[in-house]
Amino acid sequence: MNFKITVLPGDGVGPEVVAEGVRVLQAVGKKYGHSFDLSYDDIGGIAIDKYGVAVRSETIAACKKSHAVLLGAVGGPKWDDPLAKVRPEDGLLATRKGLGLFANLRPVRVLPMLEDGTTLKPEVVHGVDLMVVRELTGGLYFGKPKKRWETSQGWRAVDTMAYSEKEINRILRVGFELARGRRKKLASVDKANVLETSRLWRQLATAMAPQYPDVELQHILVDNCAMRLIQQPATLDVVVTENTFGDILTDEASMLAGSMGMLPSASLAAVPEAGKPTFGLYEPIHGSAPKHTGMNDVNPIATILSAGFLLRYSLALLPEAEAVEKAVQGVLEDGYRTYDIMQTGKKKVGTREMGELIAARV
Ligand code: IPM
Ligand code: MG
Repeated sequence: MNFKITVLPGDGVGPEVVAEGVRVLQAVGKKYGHSFDLSYDDIGGIAIDKYGVAVRSETIAACKKSHAVLLGAVGGPKWDDPLAKVRPEDGLLATRKGLGLFANLRPVRVLPMLEDGTTLKPEVVHGVDLMVVRELTGGLYFGKPKKRWETSQGWRAVDTMAYSEKEINRILRVGFELARGRRKKLASVDKANVLETSRLWRQLATAMAPQYPDVELQHILVDNCAMRLIQQPATLDVVVTENTFGDILTDEASMLAGSMGMLPSASLAAVPEAGKPTFGLYEPIHGSAPKHTGMNDVNPIATILSAGFLLRYSLALLPEAEAVEKAVQGVLEDGYRTYDIMQTGKKKVGTREMGELIAARV
């Protein structure tokens, strides 16, 4: 089959890690007889420099015409002025919103050979295999009003946390469906003791639960969940939560796996169904890591696993997706490490070498 993929490398280390994701996709194509028609475009700071906007509407239109989007990262000190009219992150948010990517899947798996490579005790992270389902196109990120203005007493600013029943139900459904296909435990994370949006969220989760009698639903307050993530992370299976909570909890959760460089993500426009292609955007959860740009040292595994997710969810190529996951594990078992997951006695490699090793093992 021939698949159209839009590639948005973005800023900082984005182009370096995306090159390795593409390398692995090409290796999959060669082995399994698929071809990928890749079209590259700009997003983030590079788009601001070239076109004055963080993402062009043409780019979003091109994404819509492809089977999936592979993205690197956006942002960097060059564009960090808090008073700037346009910011690289706006490109990412406009793309997520413009493509209707409401469901962000962020899996955290601790591989046995990396258990002693985290800041937590190995017995705490042992067996961690959880999936955070983060709502991605609502909440504080997009609610209106969102503004800053000057009053006689000084400046004021407001962001709005808003959610509709429809927005909450569709993300809860993703959570329940994924839990059903896994260990059948769903933690719905909210702040229902304080926030009205959370009380609606909790009510809707409780109302949906009878449709999934096989799934055990638990409500957890977000502050408590933050604690649980480092106290007993292996007890969590699927975690479903709103946009900002999910943003914060997934950076925290990434440390269970030892490095943000290990965590892929999928952002989907529909509830995923096994074996059925769903349009999506795939990106590592780490950012643009400006200090590492051009140094060929960052870990490309998050992007390579994101490419694996692309094969799984948007192209419904399951054996191919599994081949990518196995290749990553194999290379780690062989003792190769990038600097962020380096352990004594292991072989340190750069971004490109890690990509080549994984591509060769597919
Ligand atoms: C993420 C990032 C983004 C977010 C930023 C870059 C806007 O932190 O994908 O988690 O907050 O969603
Ligand atoms: Mg984040």
